[in-house]
Amino acid sequence: MEEMGVTVATGNGIAVVGSGYVGTVMAACLADLGHDVVGVEIDQDKLTALNAGVAPFFEVGLEERLKTSIDAGRLFFTDDYDLAMDRTHIVFLCVDTPPGTNGHPDMSSVAAAAQSIGAALRVPHIIVTKSTVPVGSGNWLESTIEAELPEGVDSNVLCVVSNPEFLREGTAVEDFLHPERVVVGGDCPEDVEIVAQVYDRILSQSFEGGDPTQKPALIKTDRATAETIKYAANAFLATKISFINEIANICEWLGADVSEIAYAIGLDSRIGPKFLNAGVGWGGSCFGKDTSALASMAREQGIEPLILDAVRRVNTNQRHIIVRKLQQHLRPLRGRRVALLGLAFKPGTDDTRDAPSITIARSLEEKGVILVGCDPMVDELPRVPNLKIVRDPEEAARGADAVVLLTEWDEFLGLDFERIANCMRGKVIIDGRNALDPEAVMSAGLAYEGIGRFSTRP
Ligand code: UDX
Repeated sequence: MEEMGVTVATGNGIAVVGSGYVGTVMAACLADLGHDVVGVEIDQDKLTALNAGVAPFFEVGLEERLKTSIDAGRLFFTDDYDLAMDRTHIVFLCVDTPPGTNGHPDMSSVAAAAQSIGAALRVPHIIVTKSTVPVGSGNWLESTIEAELPEGVDSNVLCVVSNPEFLREGTAVEDFLHPERVVVGGDCPEDVEIVAQVYDRILSQSFEGGDPTQKPALIKTDRATAETIKYAANAFLATKISFINEIANICEWLGADVSEIAYAIGLDSRIGPKFLNAGVGWGGSCFGKDTSALASMAREQGIEPLILDAVRRVNTNQRHIIVRKLQQHLRPLRGRRVALLGLAFKPGTDDTRDAPSITIARSLEEKGVILVGCDPMVDELPRVPNLKIVRDPEEAARGADAVVLLTEWDEFLGLDFERIANCMRGKVIIDGRNALDPEAVMSAGLAYEGIGRFSTRP
């Protein structure tokens, strides 16, 4: 990286390794808060784009922060680990840990990054894990880095601290700047303190747009506890959703309405209103991977993860409920046309990792259903290569026997159902997110069926 000039001296900067969701948001926001940040990215296309201020994905508020910080000289991206390690004293490890085998995440990117860091370390560094890694990985990481240290470099140049992230896709910048808590875990209190100081302005909310009345909590703890907090948080959120989905399924037999139940129980501050929307269940890159990893860790220790297993089973089952509902309405399914509104795992993103739409589309395809997908941002659905995808919901609904809402994009919530009804061949709307207005659907002469809510036929 000649154009960056210097290749000298120990810096006080921060290295962020990996430019996925977490790494890019972190690099841009830390630089925006005034830190000197070096982003490390080995993918050449991403690297060129990032140095031009172009993010590899869309996140509200991200690109403007990238551009301002790059222009102000507080942020640049490189593939040169030597340069990055020379300029910094803390490394945030943000490479991806996709699902691997036996329920464990695939740690190959972490291992490769750790080896590159080790080979480039000459001066003391704190290595901070942001990537969600199995509990105990800190020890493994330390030895992986140590094994690569150049000759003559003492192994006490490094220590590993855990600092889990809780960012949601779509609101990642907001979540980073206004977290409810910052968790830092390590076995040496001085190192934990140094990492906590990186978050100084966030903890005090002393930046433009900060809210000093809503200061986040700082939790300093040991490494294993910090690593486990991340898993426990995601597992609990997934549990809340699977719980309300189970109640929804019971509601269908009792003639009760799960939306009103969720509202009523959510008013109890011990329960809280969030993550109680019943529907086709959770997807995305975190809940499935993290509940599976936590269950595997438990099993390895001889503990049967009863709740985690149930949470995962309910979620899988939830996707098949849509297929069963379609079967009830359209028997036989073969040759029927079905429009799937929404393919992303949630609104506001083009991410389809572990999206319910994939399981549902594959199952319907196997049953001979002719499918059309519709999503404002998704252009292709993994593992469903032949799915025709359109942008216009009316085009998707044309000639359909049923329309199924799978992602509650705003574009779909305000649809003119008279027009949708006119395009359709059949009369069935399945609301897989309980997000549509049943009155609007029914007054267009369509049958409305939600999840654990009433169903009506015109
Ligand atoms: C999640 C966690 O929220 C975040 O803290 C963590 O860092 C990463 O994992 P994310 O995967 O971006 O974030 O999405 P989130 O908004 O949590 O939604 C996850 C899934 O749950 C989506 O498929 C969503 O549709 C579903 N969901 C959410 C429900 O089905 N019902 C709800 O009530 C809430």
